[in-house]
Amino acid sequence: MAHQWQGVIREYHERLPFGADDPVVTLGEGGTPLVPAPALSSRTGAKVYVKVEGMNPTGSFKDRGMTSAISQVLHSDAKIVACASTGNTSASAAAYAVAAGLSSAVILPAGKIAAGKLAQAIVHGANLVAVDGNFDDCLRIARELTANYPVALVNSVNPYRLQGQKTAAFEVVDALGDAPDIHVLPVGNAGNISAYWMGYCEYAGRTTAASMGRSATELAPVASKVPQMWGVQAWGAAPLVLGHPVEKPETVATAIRIGNPASWKLAEEARDDSQGWIDRVTDEEILAAQALLAAQVGVFIEPGSAASIAGLLKAAEAGKVPEGATIVCTVTGNGLKDTATALSGRDLDITPIEATTEAAARALDL
Ligand code: F0G
Repeated sequence: MAHQWQGVIREYHERLPFGADDPVVTLGEGGTPLVPAPALSSRTGAKVYVKVEGMNPTGSFKDRGMTSAISQVLHSDAKIVACASTGNTSASAAAYAVAAGLSSAVILPAGKIAAGKLAQAIVHGANLVAVDGNFDDCLRIARELTANYPVALVNSVNPYRLQGQKTAAFEVVDALGDAPDIHVLPVGNAGNISAYWMGYCEYAGRTTAASMGRSATELAPVASKVPQMWGVQAWGAAPLVLGHPVEKPETVATAIRIGNPASWKLAEEARDDSQGWIDRVTDEEILAAQALLAAQVGVFIEPGSAASIAGLLKAAEAGKVPEGATIVCTVTGNGLKDTATALSGRDLDITPIEATTEAAARALDL
């Protein structure tokens, strides 16, 4: 019989805090490809895969957490959902609000959202508020608004977000047959690294501080181990590396332009309990990694996602990648969201030719 992927709540219902009859708001998120990346394997001496989260319905991993957060909102009286965002959360919240029949309000740092993400919020009918400030200001406002008005907060401080996002770790284990040795991912507000760690722990029969609902220890373990969690921040927005908030975060990777991550403690726990680390990479390293993945693996990712690849390459150069290790890098968002950054600095010769095959052959040096 034909099988249609059911979205992460139905696919992983045993491990999520929803009952069988609870309403589910889904756009079919999850089930994303785990793609071998030979160009990264040969550079690192490891066996490297990329988990392509840009394949989700709104083009980023946020959809995994939005299906669970918005489904849970249907249990409350709220008719409006709100979030602060560097772009992807707002795109996802706006789309899932449409699917749920709710309104959405998105609070964004003015001028710092990639064009594709802004377009998504607009076409899905979100009420946009542009703030003269950064993401951290937006999150403070979103928290205060939702505390004082009948509006549901769907940022990752809402625990249902991490519940949905942990399913990405389940998928990695399901695809590989066990947990990888190392999992690398970009870190901004630090929800995703915390969610993956929860997912890996639960699949190995352990719980974490973020676990909810039925205890993972009641279910048979699926994985025999947990990976080391390696987190990567942008150089100018690296509070977890520096050990203190960054007042004016700056990076070309606007998705992770965050100075005071909400899930700070959970991310530190993921790092320390997994014996991993969190490092930072420069904007140049991020853009080079984005270009390398596009040109040598065939996957077009946004700059924020490329932090994970840049971090892996930096670790390899420093001799920190164990020979033959199985490594998964999450690439969190689709490159199509921010074509301006991907094309900046490129010499684009698009002078038209005459409409003949001969002219095309000449232009191609054939
Ligand atoms: N990669 C992308 C493409 C993102 O959009 C984000 C976060 C991250 C990585 C970092 O994940 O916050 O869980 O550590 N974007 C949020 C947003 C902040 O508003 O879209 P995190």
